Amino acid sequence: MVQNQMLRLIYLSRVWGNMTNTQLDQILAESRANNAKNKITGLLCYGGTSFIQILEGPEAEVINLYASIVNDERHHGCQLLDIHITNKRIFDNWAMAYVHSSKADFDELSDVIEGAKKKHEQSVNEITLILRRYLGQKIHLSSASV
Ligand SMILES: Cc1cc2nc3c(=O)[nH]c(=O)nc-3n(C[C@H](O)[C@H](O)[C@H](O)COP(=O)(O)O)c2cc1C
Repeated sequence: MVQNQMLRLIYLSRVWGNMTNTQLDQILAESRANNAKNKITGLLCYGGTSFIQILEGPEAEVINLYASIVNDERHHGCQLLDIHITNKRIFDNWAMAYVHSSKADFDELSDVIEGAKKKHEQSVNEITLILRRYLGQKIHLSSASV
């Protein structure tokens, strides 16, 4: 469904050490509750030492959320990979889809993003579609409805 102009943002961050399942569950529960209220959808991918997160939703909400996330002490070194205006959601069924990937899969995922950007200068929209296809094949996404 075409919606009003929105932002889609992708960042990478590092964790301080190993995150426990309880810590991850807390982040996800908090995210899903807030995101449903703020019309934000997306994907959080955890790869043991890093996160990749895609956030999509109304401009102000996405920017405010990213500002909170950057200052969140549960991780560090947030690196904005891409930000893009869009009028269509890709993760429209997920208040925050979650993927717990192996280190190898995570590295491959980072390479997919970097490779897509470098080789073809693809927009974040296309990169996200590639990710979605890639993740869909590899891993069952855990879902939460918006
Ligand atoms: C890796 C990571 C991803 C996060 N993703 C979200 C998210 O998608 N939505 C959300 O509301 N909070 C998310 N948070 C939590 C926010 O950083 C913040 O704690 C939360 O939005 C509450 O912020 P506030 O206390 O300023 O209201 C995430 C935190 C981390 C560490």
